[in-house]
Amino acid sequence: MKFIIGNWKMFPASPSEAKTIFSGIKKSMRGVTHAKVIICPPSLYVAQLALLAAKTKIQIGGQNCFKEDEGAYTGETSPRALRAVGATHVILGHSERRAMGETDSDISEKMSAVIRNKLTVILCVGEKARDEHGGYFNEVSTELRSSLLAFPKNEAKRLIVAYEPIWAIGSRAKRVATPADFREMSILIRRTLTEYFGKKDAFAVPILYGGSVDDHNAEGFLKEGGADGLLIGRVSLDPEKLGMIIRSANTI
Ligand code: 13P
Repeated sequence: MKFIIGNWKMFPASPSEAKTIFSGIKKSMRGVTHAKVIICPPSLYVAQLALLAAKTKIQIGGQNCFKEDEGAYTGETSPRALRAVGATHVILGHSERRAMGETDSDISEKMSAVIRNKLTVILCVGEKARDEHGGYFNEVSTELRSSLLAFPKNEAKRLIVAYEPIWAIGSRAKRVATPADFREMSILIRRTLTEYFGKKDAFAVPILYGGSVDDHNAEGFLKEGGADGLLIGRVSLDPEKLGMIIRSANTI
């Protein structure tokens, strides 16, 4: 079963557009039995889309949340409320949030909050750039270890890791990573997870690729790269292209 996760970031700008895109994605789910689709819209649309997703196989996730369940925290999103309105997953540690100042220790606290509320974490890790000496391997394993510090050892089933090399994300990406880039890094991620959770649980954690995934390169990451799924930005707002990726994942 492959995971196809859409990170809508701060798009679209109106609930009616969100509904239209979601309906398009829903249509492409016909006959899909072997792909798990999770859409993570801006928090303002989570409740609305969770209602629309209720009788479908699509699940809804948040893109971030706060470390506390409730309180005097102006402007924050409660993990408990996310669950109450129907979300099942929360993306944490996205590089775009790390760039706004989020630290590994913030992420670790948020991970505990997500687990406490019986949601699943989609944890993003990835290096800023690649150096000749392979220092980026260390960068990613350190990031993963620090984010996991407070993660309950018996909750590996509530964890998905997405490898998103920062240099491959968005319209200013230097280049798209290759399936081989992903395969190499996923071995290191699996090893780091094994140190933390033990072999059996670590091998059940899905490791996804994210960064400029489209309908042309998706299959390569899933087949040659051996990815357990994909975390998709821009293309997840295009129901036709996302539909092609979902159908292709369904056959792998
Ligand atoms: P793009 O697919 O637009 O490069 O975004 C990747 C990403 O950041 C998903 O979380």
